[in-house]
Amino acid sequence: MALAGAAHPRTAVWGYEGSVPGPALRFRQGERLRIELENLLPADTTVHFHGIRLPNAMDGVPDLTQPPIAARGGKFVYEFALPDAGTYWYHPHLGSPEQVGRGLYGALVVEEVAAPVVDRDLVWVFGDWRLDREARIVADFGNFMDASHAGRIGNTVTVNGAVRETFEVRAGERLRLRLVNAANARIFGLDFHGHDPLVIALDGHPVEPHRPEGGRVVLGPAMRADLLLDAAGEPGRAYPVVDDFYHQRAYRLLDLRYAKEALRGGRAGAGSPKIAANTMPDPDVGSAQRHRIVFGGGMMGNMPMTGMMGGGGTTRGMPMMGMMRGAAWTVNGAPIPEHDHHPILTLGLGRSYVLELVNDTEWHHPIHLHGHAFRVTSRNGSATRYREWLDTVLLAPRERAEIAFVADNPGDWMFHCHVLEHQASGMMAVIRVA
Ligand code: C2O
Ligand code: CU
Repeated sequence: MALAGAAHPRTAVWGYEGSVPGPALRFRQGERLRIELENLLPADTTVHFHGIRLPNAMDGVPDLTQPPIAARGGKFVYEFALPDAGTYWYHPHLGSPEQVGRGLYGALVVEEVAAPVVDRDLVWVFGDWRLDREARIVADFGNFMDASHAGRIGNTVTVNGAVRETFEVRAGERLRLRLVNAANARIFGLDFHGHDPLVIALDGHPVEPHRPEGGRVVLGPAMRADLLLDAAGEPGRAYPVVDDFYHQRAYRLLDLRYAKEALRGGRAGAGSPKIAANTMPDPDVGSAQRHRIVFGGGMMGNMPMTGMMGGGGTTRGMPMMGMMRGAAWTVNGAPIPEHDHHPILTLGLGRSYVLELVNDTEWHHPIHLHGHAFRVTSRNGSATRYREWLDTVLLAPRERAEIAFVADNPGDWMFHCHVLEHQASGMMAVIRVA
């Protein structure tokens, strides 16, 4: 793939159908998805359809919901109904720091039966790559430095598989931009200069249309936002979209470049749409049972750098860090190895729960629950304004959030940080619904 642009060598990637992102899958709400995966990779894999409330056996978690799909020829059929509309995505759930980092991801769009009327409905899938001078992927996956800090943050950001200079728009058009953050670890904070995007859905689920806080659309890994973007700029001009999430490291993602001619009869400025709610039952917060889950560890965190193995782990002069493939993080005080699938909680099928998620670290963590969507009801003790439905909630350093949901999907579900290097080094757990 010519990821880094024509001036650079092409990059060898791993891709679904050979491309990055993989094919954009589009379905209508209520349809069934059926995909036969043939694994031609040199590594075992699985596919997880992130955010879809599907049957547990289709969730794509190796050794929890299915056996790994064998390297060089293994097959698996994924088939399930799509109960909810919205913007989702798919990616491997095995060796994901490397597999996602090499380009295995794609968008899955489930269209509403009555979709808001726009001139163009587009997906922007963000990728983040660590490339060397020859535009080759640096294969230092899973190193302890990344794992114990912010994860594998790269040096090359792509939109739909390429570094973009410009994105062409026409004055007067209304765009629905479906943003998908498929990066291993990078958080985006997008500022659309000269524009005023309206957030209409988060993680696929409609939200009361609103301007993003501080004018900046923040997306942690795995998170999605649907924006209505009215092209209100002047024909012939260019307006930068700037990612300034990391202070001092702002860069121009691309320019919105206006054609000389405006679009006649474009829908910019039309009223703000109503999108029908998805099908999750509303949790009864009053009667909900409550649990607290504390995420700890990381450099400068409070996890001691020795004794992580619970004793007895160091032998033959191996460095401590190399032991459990570098346990860096904890859930409720213990680092959970990648293949430990004992549930930390068992939830009663059909009952409402409030989980208080506590980020006891100096780092951001996008925490994802499989098989369900949840409302974010409070942050740091204050009620949220939109009670948004999400499947991945970004916790800022030291932040606490409460999420509420009905445990209505039976099975063993992963609950983990979506910084893939954090997930692989202890920040993951299983929640059972039975
Ligand atoms: Cu996007 Cu556990 O996954
Ligand atoms: Cu994390």
